[in-house]
Amino acid sequence: MSIQTLEQFITEQQTHFPQAKGDFTKLLQAISLAAKIVHREVNKAGLADILGKLGNTNIQGEEQQKLDVFADHYFMDALEKVGECCYLASEEHEDGINLLKKNKYAVGKYMVYFDPLDGSSNIDANVSVGTIFSIYRRVSSEGDLQHIDFTQTGRKQVAAGYIIYGSSTMLVYSTGTGVNGFTLDPSIGEFCLSHPELKIPESGKTYSVNESNYNQFSMAIKQYLQFCKEIDQDTNRPYSSRYIGSLVADFHRNLIQGGIFLYPDTFQYPNGKLRLMYECNPLAFIAEQAGGKASTGDQCILDIIPHKLHQRTSLIIGSKNMVEKVEQFILEYSNMEHSFA
Ligand code: AHG
Ligand code: MN
Ligand code: MN
Repeated sequence: MSIQTLEQFITEQQTHFPQAKGDFTKLLQAISLAAKIVHREVNKAGLADILGKLGNTNIQGEEQQKLDVFADHYFMDALEKVGECCYLASEEHEDGINLLKKNKYAVGKYMVYFDPLDGSSNIDANVSVGTIFSIYRRVSSEGDLQHIDFTQTGRKQVAAGYIIYGSSTMLVYSTGTGVNGFTLDPSIGEFCLSHPELKIPESGKTYSVNESNYNQFSMAIKQYLQFCKEIDQDTNRPYSSRYIGSLVADFHRNLIQGGIFLYPDTFQYPNGKLRLMYECNPLAFIAEQAGGKASTGDQCILDIIPHKLHQRTSLIIGSKNMVEKVEQFILEYSNMEHSFA
């Protein structure tokens, strides 16, 4: 039996894809280092008094959990020190950090957006959590960062991925040439290639949605959820309902088994709850690279032009045929509304 570590894999990729240069390799190594530290903290959470809330609220008005703060610190630190980034933005900071202005370490051309701990409300219950990251290259060539650097669509990501701290810890990422998954072997402290060339099944039989919001959904989404529950052997319905409440974990299960995740607009969150830059875009990139799809309902997530760091969007993501089915429901309802207008 032969194993391939993440490090070996990245080095091999460099020979096949010359665009995957050494600076980018260093960036991924920094992410993998921070992931291992967070893995360690997550796994000893019950022992080390880092469970529970810290008492602060973050800029989204949500209570920060202690592990949010830990994870944010380790990722920030690793990414700043590696010297390949010019801009870092995290869910836990109101403003992005322009490293060109800090001058403490060397700076490079990459801009990284991340959700340091996704699903943090699940931590106290020992349920899977994750980290999500999205990487861009600055497009302005010199001087300070410009408007064009911050308004790149998700399609311009040079890489994206996530780490899931679950029954095992996995790192899944893509540089735009497919998706590969690595499982952490804690005994040797290495991520090892375990899921090469991941493909999401075209259809699945799982739907993931916080159904307590049902009364707040549009008619099209309500009808789609009814469709999921109908009995029809030919199309494997009723689908199973699975909702963890950690986006990374729900997405990862659907990536492996096939399925769809929805967080549509609600009264409480009229533009969706999930954040474009560090939740939706990176997972949309992975979904498309694995043969799946990610949509707002009428637009590909990856085509949204961002206008602010913490912007939210509705998200429908997963198996291609299932996402297209929801889009079809939404289109039919919008046509109906127009014909009555
Ligand atoms: P975070 O812990 O980074 O704030 O993200 C929580 C997100 C996401 O992980 C999950 O899918 C969603 O919030 C759950 O929201 P509801 O509790 O409203 O279902
Ligand atoms: Mn999150
Ligand atoms: Mn978070």
